[in-house]
Amino acid sequence: MLRRTLFGLAPAVLLGGTRRPWREVERILERGDFQGRLSVDDLPTPALLVDLDALDANIAKMAAHCRAKNRALRPHGKTHKCPEIARRLISAGAVGACAAKLSEAEAFARAGIGGLLVTTAVVGQHKLERAVRLARLKPETTFCVDDAGNLADLDEAAREAKVRLNVAVDLYVGTRTGIPAGPPAVTLAQAIARRKNVRFTGLQAYAGHASHRNGFEARRELSRGVMQTAVETRRLIEAAGIPCPLLSCGSTGTYNIDCDIDGITELQPGSFLFMDVDYARIGGQDGPVYRDFRHSLTVLTTVVSKPSAVEAVVDGGLKAFSTDKPFTPEAKGIDGIVFSWGGDEHGKLNLTKASRTLNVGDRVEFVVPHCDPTVNLYDRMYGVRGSQVETSWLIAARGMSQ
Ligand SMILES: Cc1ncc(COP(=O)(O)O)c(C=O)c1O
Repeated sequence: MLRRTLFGLAPAVLLGGTRRPWREVERILERGDFQGRLSVDDLPTPALLVDLDALDANIAKMAAHCRAKNRALRPHGKTHKCPEIARRLISAGAVGACAAKLSEAEAFARAGIGGLLVTTAVVGQHKLERAVRLARLKPETTFCVDDAGNLADLDEAAREAKVRLNVAVDLYVGTRTGIPAGPPAVTLAQAIARRKNVRFTGLQAYAGHASHRNGFEARRELSRGVMQTAVETRRLIEAAGIPCPLLSCGSTGTYNIDCDIDGITELQPGSFLFMDVDYARIGGQDGPVYRDFRHSLTVLTTVVSKPSAVEAVVDGGLKAFSTDKPFTPEAKGIDGIVFSWGGDEHGKLNLTKASRTLNVGDRVEFVVPHCDPTVNLYDRMYGVRGSQVETSWLIAARGMSQ
């Protein structure tokens, strides 16, 4: 198909169903003036697609949930890394965006996104300089701290730059970073309150192990247990005379658990936007598949080889899908396909039990094993409705892991 199109011989019927020459597709992609003129089949593969109906439904559901439970929503930007999506979330009622790292926050700030919470501590001279620069651009940004020495460095950097930094204490609730809940956290909050160039805004408590605990009841028990320590720490800080307006926590797996815990003020979920193979397996309230949110993110691939009647090879491998779990991509709309990794560039499909056959040139869409690191592999995502490409969004914070 590509060879014939490149030579300008647009055949009557093309594999994949497109009739538009590449030079026109290229022009539309460059200008972004889609206006219903581009079909999904026109996109070069592998391509990252987001189903706009599913994305909008996921955003509306999470926003309505937080509104009904009277909790703020600050979705985690590490999932989408895309200012357009952050804007859509803010339009739906989000108070801002979390950013995993400083450079991710900088990318959002450059795109005009405010209400940032940087969820990883800012450590080292250069990062401190960047933190105060970010605070000049977006003064409401909050930075997390779990170490008294790092707090002293932040305070000094803020003093030198003549800014006041908002600082939250990162609590250890069983996952990775953070200071132990209870007295150690209270002592750190008091140290923040005593300093002149930082302002104590509250607590962050992310319990990733609870988010992915299989089975709703087991997840609820675990999350309630660890979050009680965070809520109690907030109470102790306030009892010590320090206002603690923020307790930010939660995730896609625990959004409907943490909202029912008194003392939690906001949720910071991310994966609910897209969903992935991993999250579908954690189990929902109504059964073994977690269906609270729709799969909106897929990678579109093309069959590039057919070694036998029951084997096909697509042009998406480890550079098109990222995973840290034993799961592989799952074909959308075709049952029974078994995907296995064919290296960096290729995916091998076993079609023995497939609900339809595939031939060279056919396109196959896959739900991704793990959404966050997969998004990080792409410069753009294409927003689609049905078979039409409606828009293309820059993943501006792609690769911003500094
Ligand atoms: C600090 C923090 N908050 C929130 C989230 C969002 O979690 P999820 O994608 O499970 O909703 C993450 C994800 O890793 C995270 O690291």
